[in-house]
Amino acid sequence: MSEPLYQLVYYSRNAIRGDETAFAKAIAAILTASRRNNPLVGITGALLFNAGCFAQVLEGSLDAVEATFERIQQDERHGDVSLLALEPIAARSFSNWAMGFVGHSRENADRFAAIGLDSGFDPERLGGQRIHEILRELVIQEEVVAA
Ligand SMILES: Cc1cc2nc3c(=O)[nH]c(=O)nc-3n(C[C@H](O)[C@H](O)[C@H](O)COP(=O)(O)O)c2cc1C
Repeated sequence: MSEPLYQLVYYSRNAIRGDETAFAKAIAAILTASRRNNPLVGITGALLFNAGCFAQVLEGSLDAVEATFERIQQDERHGDVSLLALEPIAARSFSNWAMGFVGHSRENADRFAAIGLDSGFDPERLGGQRIHEILRELVIQEEVVAA
């Protein structure tokens, strides 16, 4: 039998400093590391970010989720990491994503606005369930836009 699956949702304050290019480079480095490391331990998930904050969903075995989150929490590119949810799940929501991502691209600016994320989303008020729903909706949208 395979190990039970868990899903973790957190948000944090973006601490990346510099201009847009520096920000894009830092995000690219985070995604590269995620896509290298996460498949090795069976983690999937998605990352939502803007200039102000990050929100991320990690899913996999409890051991893998906890070890990955432990490492992420130490990262100086963000701060004030707040755990919103850690719970067992029946199935993965992001099975195709070693780490999908949603930035505030021009393409999905309208969708950001529609969901109320436009003027810097406030993950504290959204809650884990809503962040999860938003990521599911937007990460799939990015996939369609990218295709
Ligand atoms: C917001 C944020 C999300 C991150 N997500 C992941 C992740 O899902 N997986 C991962 O391995 N590293 C993630 N990282 C990077 C880790 O903190 C760490 O830098 C990286 O895992 C180190 O990998 P390496 O030892 O292979 O270079 C994230 C960092 C930040 C700031």
